[in-house]
Amino acid sequence: MNDQQPRLPNRQTPFSDAFVAFIPTDWAPYPAELPDRLPAAEFTEHRRDTISAAFPGERLVIPAGPLSVRSNDTDYRFRPHSAFAHLTGLGSDREPDAVLVLEPSFTDADDPAEASGVDAEGHTATLYFKPRAPRTDPEFYADARYGEMWVGTRDSLEELEALTGLPCRPLAELPAALTLHIDRVDTRVVREVDDRLTKLLDELRRSNAVEFDPCVDAELATALSELRLIKDDFEIGQLQLACDDTAVGFEAVVRDFPTAVAQGRGERWCEGVFGLHARHRGNDVGYGSICAAGDHANTLHWIRNDGELADGDLILMDMGVEVETLYTADITRTLPVNGRFTPAQRKVYEAVLEAQQAGIDAARPGARFTDVHEAAIRVVARHLHAWGILPVSVEESLDQLNGGHHRRWMVHGTSHHLGIDVHDCAEARQEYYRGGVLRPGMVITVEPGIYLKATDLLVPEELRGIGVRIEDDILITEDGNRNLSDKLPRDPDAVEAWLAGLLPKS
Ligand code: GLY
Ligand code: MN
Ligand code: MN
Repeated sequence: MNDQQPRLPNRQTPFSDAFVAFIPTDWAPYPAELPDRLPAAEFTEHRRDTISAAFPGERLVIPAGPLSVRSNDTDYRFRPHSAFAHLTGLGSDREPDAVLVLEPSFTDADDPAEASGVDAEGHTATLYFKPRAPRTDPEFYADARYGEMWVGTRDSLEELEALTGLPCRPLAELPAALTLHIDRVDTRVVREVDDRLTKLLDELRRSNAVEFDPCVDAELATALSELRLIKDDFEIGQLQLACDDTAVGFEAVVRDFPTAVAQGRGERWCEGVFGLHARHRGNDVGYGSICAAGDHANTLHWIRNDGELADGDLILMDMGVEVETLYTADITRTLPVNGRFTPAQRKVYEAVLEAQQAGIDAARPGARFTDVHEAAIRVVARHLHAWGILPVSVEESLDQLNGGHHRRWMVHGTSHHLGIDVHDCAEARQEYYRGGVLRPGMVITVEPGIYLKATDLLVPEELRGIGVRIEDDILITEDGNRNLSDKLPRDPDAVEAWLAGLLPKS
């Protein structure tokens, strides 16, 4: 047996010497033409420059992350870490194990000690990744995770350079690049993404007696998160595309309501139909779809989706298409399965819509992030009070220190930032997020709800089991806002008219 024999799974037939000699022969050459530059690449340089300016003289290490095991030797579909995607423009399933390194460009490159951090002039970006192996390498046929025969033709160094506009080097060179001057160049890594890389860096720091406080790594993650608070034109275009594709998916689900009712486990059917369109039009769903009929709508993160869909029910669907660049929509509509709201359903729906409109109206440049929630929740509390549900006055409930009773029926916030992550900018500092001010280019959700559980004895009987959320994706503009998800109707009459056009005539 040949000495190139790779370690094989216990069910795999060993490769003979004859096979190893035969397999690399008689293949057409790889295409000579390089791929076009990714449209995002026009924007990524500016993003990298911004992060470079925040950390002069320091080495910045931003990993894509490894493949992650779903079970045994099968992996989840790869999705790069969002900071990596943002700085490289790589989306879909590119590129497991890759690492972006921003290397400080010192005035005297050979001796960083001569150049104090502030003398460093920006950074040079290099993308380290595992380029495809030649067909003579066992990887080609024997590596189920990376081999061309198993996962398709992966990029060469030149191809990924052409796509991203970044200099690319083999991953095998990364340890040496990270070791260079490690005692003199402060290094920061996004720690939680790639355990093996983080361990390697920590070990290099230890063995070179580099003093190190893990806070420095956390500061990089924070800066990368805050870098995404304001979206550039490319990102806004991608979020609009994600919303438009999501509207197409919602429509397809509605058309299938009668089938979902007839098949049983209708919630799953809705999830599946939306998932089909998310995969067909984009990369995937941006988060686990919530398809919650009847009282399930009152479970905020109902992603089990194994319930029935019945004529007369509302179904709350919180779903978003993630496009190939990984930007995702996050849209909720609560719809009557048979096309018409009952009076009780409409009463709750209209209250939530009024709250949402109050939130959208408050989402203006210069407003506080919390103004949106405060505007929406005031309307929610007022309706709960009018229905005799709230055990205290509206003002007492809205008192943040001593009240909060209304939260029994809407425990979640009204807004979050939206982008590559559905809950984008999650590591931004509090003063720039919840304590921050809305600025043009931010994209937030406005998503109030009222959730009246079937088991809630404080709720009038005719309203029990009704849960409504309406969620839209709102771009803050110079003079107000733009609803990116307005292709899906919200007004109850418009919703009924839209449903009438999609459902069979009865
Ligand atoms: N779909 C998650 C959320 O609305 O935040
Ligand atoms: Mn949502
Ligand atoms: Mn949301």
